[in-house]
Amino acid sequence: MLGIIGGSGLTQLANLDVAHREIARTAWGEPSGPLVFGRIAGRDTVFLPRHGHGHTIPPHLVNYRANVEALRRAGATWVVSVASVGGIHASLIPGALVVPDQIIDYTWGRDNSYQDASPSQVVHIDFTEPYDAKVREAILSAGRRCAEPIVDGGTYAATQGPRLETAAEINKLERDGAAMVGMTGMPEAALAREAGLPYAALCIVANWAAGRHDSAKGIQLDQIEAALHLSMARVRQLIEHLELP
Ligand code: HPA
Repeated sequence: MLGIIGGSGLTQLANLDVAHREIARTAWGEPSGPLVFGRIAGRDTVFLPRHGHGHTIPPHLVNYRANVEALRRAGATWVVSVASVGGIHASLIPGALVVPDQIIDYTWGRDNSYQDASPSQVVHIDFTEPYDAKVREAILSAGRRCAEPIVDGGTYAATQGPRLETAAEINKLERDGAAMVGMTGMPEAALAREAGLPYAALCIVANWAAGRHDSAKGIQLDQIEAALHLSMARVRQLIEHLELP
């Protein structure tokens, strides 16, 4: 079953034929909201909005462990995470869709592992390639099928938020090799790997990152909302074209 974690702008899936909702509880606490089970284009899907159904949970307070565990327990066998980002690389203009292939984690103080409660054996996960190759390809080929251009690859810088970055921070992220910046990519991706769930992200560029182009003097937050709103119809269409990897 396909699991979808929706980000800002995607708190519900209009094309999901809802069968039922379920309040999930996990050993790690409650996920961001009830899981929504249904069908998209005839395929079983479970949907969870990362920030809650009313968009009330900020990025640094999301219970990422509970979200990933709830999807796994619900029977998700692969997960597509939808997230908005700021564009750093010149190709990532507002409105662009991108499937990142690498991550740099700048977050701190988040519960970032299932292994923190005196495990009997310490286990290290391989995270050389943080996203699942097959799920990435499923997203990219869905884009080809519905003639929706998607940028293939780029390094996602995960910042702590909830504030946006300074222009100097964005310059540093670029020097580090980041093409885009967002606040929710980690620890979600690492937890999915720990949980054994194939996972990849579809990112929507909502704005130029701080200090860049029309964000040179500041980021217009209402423009982020407008850009996300415009892109979500395309994201929903893309999700309809996803085929099992
Ligand atoms: N920075 C961090 N996260 C974001 C941004 C940004 O500019 N835009 C959307 N999410």
